[in-house]
Amino acid sequence: MDIRIAPSILSADFANLEAELASISHADLIHVDVMDGHFVPNMTLGLPIAKRLFEVSKVPLDVHLMIDNPEHWAGQYAKFASSVTFHFEAANDPAQVISSIRESGAKVAMSIKPGTSFESVSNLVQQLDMLLIMTVEPGFGGQSLIEATVPKVSQAAAFARENSLSLSIQVDGGITADNIATLADAGADTFVAGTAVFQASDRNAAIDRLRALARA
Ligand code: DX5
Ligand code: ZN
Repeated sequence: MDIRIAPSILSADFANLEAELASISHADLIHVDVMDGHFVPNMTLGLPIAKRLFEVSKVPLDVHLMIDNPEHWAGQYAKFASSVTFHFEAANDPAQVISSIRESGAKVAMSIKPGTSFESVSNLVQQLDMLLIMTVEPGFGGQSLIEATVPKVSQAAAFARENSLSLSIQVDGGITADNIATLADAGADTFVAGTAVFQASDRNAAIDRLRALARA
């Protein structure tokens, strides 16, 4: 799998999103965190803002839905996003969410929180393009990576290998230049980074550095 760096615009200046996008042009994907104040204790942005980001972004959007009722919303984001991720814990009918994303033409991704085991979703992963293993509790940027989530990355990578699945493995939360190589060694290929990119004085240099560290 190709290494991809996906800066999270949760750490961007929400009053200047178009300019913020221009500052991360080296990104492989733009990670858009959608939070509803129910599934997670925070709110961010919804469909109208995500759609405008798509219209002005030169880089494809990777939408991360931290919302209840993904059955209703996922397909609508999938009309313009390159990939749409819903949370296993929020879905009443994961198979339905998967088909609604696929039918709208986006890549299908599902996420699990730190407390959810890989075993609980192993029967679904063959229907996915990407599995997002959360490395922090979803809801806020700027947290530290929970080390106990790293073995889950290795477990998912081994499962994909044993079953000849072309499954991308994404990690999100607390990713830094100090831990990205460990996560890549464990089998992750797609890395979300909010703080590590947006707090850098040269954001594109930070993206390039993270990519190089993950590839090494
Ligand atoms: C957290 C979000 C993340 C967040 C990552 O719930 O899903 O995408 O923006 O931010 P950092 O990289 O600062 O942990
Ligand atoms: Zn995210």
